[in-house]
Amino acid sequence: MLKHVPSTEQHEWKDSAHAHFQRWAHHYDRDIINVLLFKPCHQRVLAELRQGKRRGLKPLRILDVGCGTGNLLIQSLRLGSHVQSGIGIDMSDNMIDYAREKVENMNLSRKLSFLVGDAEHLPFPDNSFDVVTCCNSFHHYPHQDRAVSEVLRVLDNNGRYILIDGYRDDPLGYFVFDICVTRAENHVHHCSALRFRKLLNDAGFAKIQQNVFGVCPPAIMNIAYAEK
Ligand SMILES: C[S@@+](CC[C@H](N)C(=O)[O-])C[C@H]1O[C@@H](n2cnc3c(N)ncnc32)[C@H](O)[C@@H]1O
Repeated sequence: MLKHVPSTEQHEWKDSAHAHFQRWAHHYDRDIINVLLFKPCHQRVLAELRQGKRRGLKPLRILDVGCGTGNLLIQSLRLGSHVQSGIGIDMSDNMIDYAREKVENMNLSRKLSFLVGDAEHLPFPDNSFDVVTCCNSFHHYPHQDRAVSEVLRVLDNNGRYILIDGYRDDPLGYFVFDICVTRAENHVHHCSALRFRKLLNDAGFAKIQQNVFGVCPPAIMNIAYAEK
């Protein structure tokens, strides 16, 4: 079933996520959850990008939505010239400050940039990116349908959307994501695999593939690949 967030609650959702991540930003990179959960998700995305490199696809313009401190984009530069540029967007200015500081220290500002913004209102022209990624951020969006439509709009023709979030379709996933994470983070909504497919379908994505993969047991993640 599609969850509808009443307009009175929408600001609460975003304010709650904003406050949570503003605080978390200061120790985010040192948090054990990065090693156990977020990094394995990044590895999954990088494996997908590597396949594109093998297939000889053109150098990529990547957008990472809900980028946190920029770890996925920084890692993506391991693909060398296959990555033309990367932009990260996040609603938390503290997260963005850390991302900017890291790329400046690593001398990567020529390829990577970061800005504060909302996943539901992407400040980019149509057809700007070849790949849009979103890891462990989607459950915070009160209008998930709007976030998906925005991705479709900014993707170039044949562009790819790689979306990862918690898998909550079995009892364990339900316990981890719908009970524990919801209690810790408030105002979140993890999608069922069916809802992911419906959101991507309704937005107008053409080829949709879905998969699940394990990270630190017992967490299981949902990954969706969709093409414009
Ligand atoms: C768990 S962190 C994941 C960060 C990053 N994707 C990673 O894998 O390390 C979720 C991020 O989503 C961001 N976020 C939540 N709601 C957002 C929104 N509406 N627009 C943009 N970013 C948002 C948070 O500020 C936070 O940095």
